[in-house]
Amino acid sequence: MIRILFFFSVLTFTSCTYNEIIPVCTPDEKEFSDLVKPIIENNCISCHNESSNRPAVLDSYEGVIGALDNYLLKERVVNKSMPPYGFPEMSQEDIDIVKNWANCE
Ligand code: HEC
Repeated sequence: MIRILFFFSVLTFTSCTYNEIIPVCTPDEKEFSDLVKPIIENNCISCHNESSNRPAVLDSYEGVIGALDNYLLKERVVNKSMPPYGFPEMSQEDIDIVKNWANCE
């Protein structure tokens, strides 16, 4: 019994500290250039560029990071609300690449 209590207290303790020390995840820039950028260029840039007047301008690493932080970019890709209805859907493979990159996985 003592052992079990000990186990749970360790578990609780570590899960708390885990939350406190986990750094804010910053998706990798090189991986962006290698994997994510071509996907964004194919699927998003026609509507999300400097001249399209959208808050999310996705033509750079910084722009995409900003849209992850402020405009739910990952969620929109994962729930397939972007690209909008009526435009070519992304492949599941591409969706997973964006998702994993955004999660720093
Ligand atoms: C056909 C044009 C079009 C394409 C292609 C497109 N979007 Fe959008 N996007 C929009 C419009 C219009 C809105 C605003 C309406 C809304 O939020 O649903 C928007 C909104 C967004 C927003 C919220 C911030 C903003 O600028 O309003 C994000 C983030 C976003 N899109 C990401 C993406 C990503 C990532 C892709 C590619 C996978 C993509 N979009 C492809 C037209 C587009």
